[in-house]
Amino acid sequence: MTDVMDWDSAYQGDGEFQGPPPWNIGEPQPELAALIAAGKIRSEVLDAGCGYAELSLALAADGYTVVGIELTPTAVVAATKAAEERGLSNATFVQDDITKFTGFDGRFATILDSTLFHSLPVEGRDGYQQSVFRAAAPGAHYYILVFAKGAFPAELQQKPNEVDEDELRAAVGKYWSIDEVRPAFIHANTPPLEAMKSASFEPPQHDRDEKGRMKFPAFLLSAHKPD
Ligand SMILES: C[S@@+](CC[C@H](N)C(=O)[O-])C[C@H]1O[C@@H](n2cnc3c(N)ncnc32)[C@H](O)[C@@H]1O
Repeated sequence: MTDVMDWDSAYQGDGEFQGPPPWNIGEPQPELAALIAAGKIRSEVLDAGCGYAELSLALAADGYTVVGIELTPTAVVAATKAAEERGLSNATFVQDDITKFTGFDGRFATILDSTLFHSLPVEGRDGYQQSVFRAAAPGAHYYILVFAKGAFPAELQQKPNEVDEDELRAAVGKYWSIDEVRPAFIHANTPPLEAMKSASFEPPQHDRDEKGRMKFPAFLLSAHKPD
């Protein structure tokens, strides 16, 4: 499989970004924070591809028990350290590949994907769906926040694997019962990719939020595992 980017380099600051990666916004994505506020989350929670894990840490601070599974050692170390510093023993982090992890069969009541889906190679999607479905308890709920096609310029050579609604429904609906797919936003610090600075095309011109972050078009998918 060809990775979308060198994730560990991105976190170590020696990748294509000058400084922290644009998705490190220091808090949960607003669409997922809204799910938490609406009482949609039940323990145990899996934060799939958790990165620096502000989502896991916010959930743990609210009393949820959370496991973050993340590919890069750098992010796992940072998330573990942050949990320790905040006294959150109910947040634990595991370094593993989400497309083939095992050891959590039937465990999670909620699975959250905060911008992971488009970070995987397309050929990794089915393994990812199989793995998280196996790790889900009967009746578990699954939420995916993913870039919609058109979030980035078509000419951009290296970019996330944005989705259209049909391909998202096809990949997830093979295993899960889909409840809703609706338009949403992913908030990110910009510029999103160093490549854009020297590119011959215009970077995306999406609206910004009240904190100056760009609001990229996305989908929020909600699904559940039948009882
Ligand atoms: C765009 S970042 C989002 C991070 C975090 N969820 C957030 O919202 O800030 C995508 C994350 O997925 C992780 N990732 C990519 N491929 C993965 C894989 N096969 N297994 C687990 N994590 C993966 C990356 O290392 C990165 O931390």
